[in-house]
Amino acid sequence: MKKPELIVALDVDSLAELQEIVDGIGDAVKIYKVGSQVFTSCGPAAARFLMARGKEVFLDLKFHDIPNTVAHAVANAVNLSTAVGRSSLTASGQEVRMGELLMYTVHTSGGEEMMRAASQAAAQTAETLKVRRPLTVGVTVLTSQDQKTQAAGLTGGEVSDNILTLVLKRAEAAKRAGLDGVVSSCAEASAIRKEFGKDFVIVTPGIRPAGADVGDQKRVATPSLAVQSGSSFLVVGRPIVKAPDPQQAALKILEEIQKSS
Ligand code: C5P
Repeated sequence: MKKPELIVALDVDSLAELQEIVDGIGDAVKIYKVGSQVFTSCGPAAARFLMARGKEVFLDLKFHDIPNTVAHAVANAVNLSTAVGRSSLTASGQEVRMGELLMYTVHTSGGEEMMRAASQAAAQTAETLKVRRPLTVGVTVLTSQDQKTQAAGLTGGEVSDNILTLVLKRAEAAKRAGLDGVVSSCAEASAIRKEFGKDFVIVTPGIRPAGADVGDQKRVATPSLAVQSGSSFLVVGRPIVKAPDPQQAALKILEEIQKSS
């Protein structure tokens, strides 16, 4: 299994804020998540900015639509990797390798046909454009949902009184549809790892260093617990981007990941 990696969720409202955080963190972090908050304010420019800085992008727009629309959105996302040439020069004349789209999300509740359309579009577009094929990962159950909130929101007869059962069911559908992995909380990660093997990608948000503010997250875990649970990518937002010193906060979490892996 590959070593777990840290992804910083750039949940901010402007390119200026994004730039300040990314430049402040510097070389410590190489993967950033662009989600709906920053995408609805800055658009694809957020991803392009990161790629131009040599960063890998996790585009977390959680696609959930008819297969045709999702396939076209995925093709456009893959196209972002071509947007800025493949290398650029820094002010000091050093050549920097451009970052690419590493991964993006769809909702597993969108169904297998939609998930398959997404992963096929990702593979075909990457092949045509000669860029890296991004990983397609499916959101199972949001980490801000617990047993109570989730039960209230179930649709389509999908009734489960057990989040783990539902997460495993959705992970199985994701695997059948050709996805590379899923997003889940750490509480389900070890069961997913056991069931779907070492190559299945598990992305875990809801990470909180001991003593950190939980905010709206419900199913949370510390970085070391996430690593022990078999997480491939730990997504951390507020504990880093809202910290007085984001670089220090990131380094501390990286150290914990390193020690536990
Ligand atoms: O600030 P915090 O660390 O809670 O941020 C977690 C990030 O992970 C947010 O950007 C959120 O959209 C995302 N996420 C999540 N739960 C999921 C999928 C994504 O919290 N199941």
